[in-house]
Amino acid sequence: MDKMIKITFLFVFFVSSTRAQSIFDVTKYGAKAGGSDINSALMSTWKKACASTSPSKVLIPSGTFLLSPVTLAGPCKAAIEVRVQGTLKALSGVGEMTKDGGWIAFQQIKGFTLSGGGIFDGQGAAAWGSCDNNNCKQLAINLRFDSITNGLVQDVTSLNSKQFHVNLLLCKNFTIRHLTVTAPADSKNTDGIHIGRSRGIKITDSKIGTGDDCISIGDGSQNVSITRVSCGPGHGISVGSLGKYENEEPVVGISVKGCKLTNTDNGLRIKTWPASFANSASNMHFEDITMVNVSNPIIIDQAYCPYGDCNAKAPSRVKISNVGFENIRGTSATPVGVKLDCSNSIPCEGVELVNINLNYIGKKGSIKSECSNVKPKVIGVYNALACDSTTSTTSKAPTKS
Ligand SMILES: *[C@@H]1O[C@H](CO)[C@@H](O)[C@H](O)[C@H]1NC(C)=O
Ligand SMILES: *[C@@H]1O[C@H](CO)[C@@H](O)[C@H](O)[C@H]1NC(C)=O
Ligand SMILES: *[C@@H]1O[C@H](CO)[C@@H](O)[C@H](O)[C@H]1NC(C)=O
Repeated sequence: MDKMIKITFLFVFFVSSTRAQSIFDVTKYGAKAGGSDINSALMSTWKKACASTSPSKVLIPSGTFLLSPVTLAGPCKAAIEVRVQGTLKALSGVGEMTKDGGWIAFQQIKGFTLSGGGIFDGQGAAAWGSCDNNNCKQLAINLRFDSITNGLVQDVTSLNSKQFHVNLLLCKNFTIRHLTVTAPADSKNTDGIHIGRSRGIKITDSKIGTGDDCISIGDGSQNVSITRVSCGPGHGISVGSLGKYENEEPVVGISVKGCKLTNTDNGLRIKTWPASFANSASNMHFEDITMVNVSNPIIIDQAYCPYGDCNAKAPSRVKISNVGFENIRGTSATPVGVKLDCSNSIPCEGVELVNINLNYIGKKGSIKSECSNVKPKVIGVYNALACDSTTSTTSKAPTKS
């Protein structure tokens, strides 16, 4: 290649890779802070940006904007970013949602970023009361991401969602970082992040306080990595629930590392329904986790039946295998620090407990474990937490902290 061509090539590459995104500001399309519903202004802005053949940015500047349920769908011609600097407020009505059950739904996009430091206020307080066990699905999810490939969500806050705060379905290579989720402990079914049928998901450096699961990992989740997330209040980090529906897909490859759970009902949980359809969950590793006053710090519950309406005698048919709990420390709010309740038709396989150091902080006895249909490999674990296993345990009681 002669020098001239080489320089031209480099020049073209430089220009195209540093070309500024085209910016599409909603306030140029009729949206007004403190004014009426910006739904149609946002739709027009999105359509323009999505049709741009170069990378584009939809900007919602600072200020408070009212927004009714909206679906922002691709495919777009190039990568697209939605930058929210202000506060978006949902309508407070109970039935307000898109046809897919979202407040704001992003769909069918390749190369997508949501950023900007903004707040998504679902105004859920009036709706939570209407959520009665199984019918909570009738309420809007603050942020839905459906079929997004190469996605990034960073520096945003989801506040008081009516239902789940963030839901990923059929996403691939999707990162969430610096997400804040805030809702009260008694807000029903307000999971922080729910993942379903998605692959290559990373969640890092986030803070989630809500009334239900901090992060729940549903069927078909593969290669999910969760690091440096703090949870509480809420129900902790869960795989499942699994087995309730026919044709669920396996869960494979979950890593949870460097997380802290404070005052949550559960810490690390795997839950499957009794009398279930067949499925499996395997290769799950939980490491370097701190528990502060957590009610069930480590729990496998294969008889999960929150509303008491299951045939509890029929076993779960979800196979759980290759699960590691390693370097788990802190305090339990109940005497049962480790509970591994596996299916009597398909016992758990390849479960490891390594360096579990949990103290019970109450007065109703001393810490213990309850285990059935599982023979974990135990290393460096205080006897009372070792599921009656006798392999290489240390019998020294953990020091009270
Ligand atoms: C994954 O998505 C990110 C955007 O979040 C992108 O920068 C990266 O190139 C993607 N990785 C692959 C393997 O496509
Ligand atoms: C999952 O991760 C493994 C190991 O990092 C990698 O080999 C595999 O390609 C990944 N699969 C998906 C679907 O992302
Ligand atoms: C510990 O958790 C229990 C049960 O959730 C709760 O009642 C109690 O107030 C918590 N204690 C502290 C010190 O937060």
